[in-house]
Amino acid sequence: MTTSALADLYDPDTYLAGPPHEAFAALRRAAPVHWREVPTGPAAPGYWAVLGYAEVEHVLCEPELFSSEKGGVVLDDLPPDRLAQMRGMLLAMDPPRHRDYRRPLAHRFTHRAIAMLEGRVRDASRAIMREAAERGHGGGEVEFVGEVAGQLPTRVVGELMGLPREDWDYVHRLAEALNRGQDAGGADRAAAEGDGAGGGGGEGAAAPTVEMAMYAAGFAAGRRARPPRDDLTGLLLAGDFGGRTMSDLDYGSFFVQLVTAGNDTTQTMLSSGLLALLTHPDQLADLRADPSLAPGAVEEILRWANPLHYFRRTAAADAEVGGVRIRAGDRLATYFTAANRDETVFADPDRFDIRRSPNRHLSFGKGEHFCLGAHLARLEGRVFLEELLSSFAAIELAGPPVRVRSNLNNGLKSLPVRLTPAGTS
Ligand code: HEM
Repeated sequence: MTTSALADLYDPDTYLAGPPHEAFAALRRAAPVHWREVPTGPAAPGYWAVLGYAEVEHVLCEPELFSSEKGGVVLDDLPPDRLAQMRGMLLAMDPPRHRDYRRPLAHRFTHRAIAMLEGRVRDASRAIMREAAERGHGGGEVEFVGEVAGQLPTRVVGELMGLPREDWDYVHRLAEALNRGQDAGGADRAAAEGDGAGGGGGEGAAAPTVEMAMYAAGFAAGRRARPPRDDLTGLLLAGDFGGRTMSDLDYGSFFVQLVTAGNDTTQTMLSSGLLALLTHPDQLADLRADPSLAPGAVEEILRWANPLHYFRRTAAADAEVGGVRIRAGDRLATYFTAANRDETVFADPDRFDIRRSPNRHLSFGKGEHFCLGAHLARLEGRVFLEELLSSFAAIELAGPPVRVRSNLNNGLKSLPVRLTPAGTS
């Protein structure tokens, strides 16, 4: 095995120059499940790195045996109050409680229900492109992650939940403050203390988390006083979740969950997606020439630049995965980054290919906890790409991209680009 295979998968610094794909591949070929020692700290004594596609599927599809609730979904053990808070989220509930919560929500997130939002997602994307064109400080330069990609997810959540437009900027600022909790230094504090699928939110994120939950609880109280409306908020306030209805505070916590699960991941998909296309100009040219390639491009972006490296499970009993004996209480990390490049499933897996078919990546997970927002994220990805490419005749890198320092979030902190609006010579 090469020395790169010895890369410390737990150390957030390992990911600063990009995911250690060589190490993942070498380890996966040697064995699909490996023990990784973490001698001290909140992830001690270590964890099982699950790297093969079949093994990741296996773990995700046995939610009773491999629990999301026992230890939460990030590698580091959380302080009891933070773990209790995480367990209030769908992501960290085990069956049967998980099913009671998820079932009433599922029909709002089906392909059909989400397709009805396309017009509004397009309007929001167009407005963002107009603002980016105006913002283009002098030479058309923008910081793409925050100024462009990061603008879409909160506006879409605002539409979905029926928030007043005048509140969107405020919610967006809170979401940004929540994300800044990432990259906070230490052994990936953000991942350790994050509260959602995005894993955002270290100590610095506690205040915005509470502020956002309180804002949403106040919004819910206001909505109850008015006639019901047919949006996600209306459904949540009237719904039956395992024999009980949601209080305003439950609503506040669910709201935070949607924002933490959906914002950072979607922002990453949009910005890493652009970077992937800029570094593969032939594919970008193909996509410009044939916009019907956009859905496939989004899937390949999700596979090749998956926004999350892993999620954690904790073994509820002794088990076996990939021929390895796992003991009750052991941590496992299901590495999407490694499974998405498993050569037994994907031909030429390191190649970025927007025409790849089939493309059964695991970036939205699998089984019981499969991403509730997957159709929404796909819609946002496709519409945003279409609007970006039709708004700007040329897009070029204007400086080096900077990555988020995290062992969980596979994202960009900044991506300086130069945008030339369509129709300018
Ligand atoms: C590219 C964007 C996204 C990615 C890569 C992503 C990824 C994931 C993954 C991997 C899971 C599975 C968690 C597990 O197995 O432990 C998940 C769950 C979840 N996602 Fe997403 N997500 C994205 C966007 C969204 C959006 C836009 C929303 C909602 C607005 C959302 C809401 C959720 C929720 C509520 C769960 C928990 C589902 C459950 O436990 O039943 N996600 N996401």
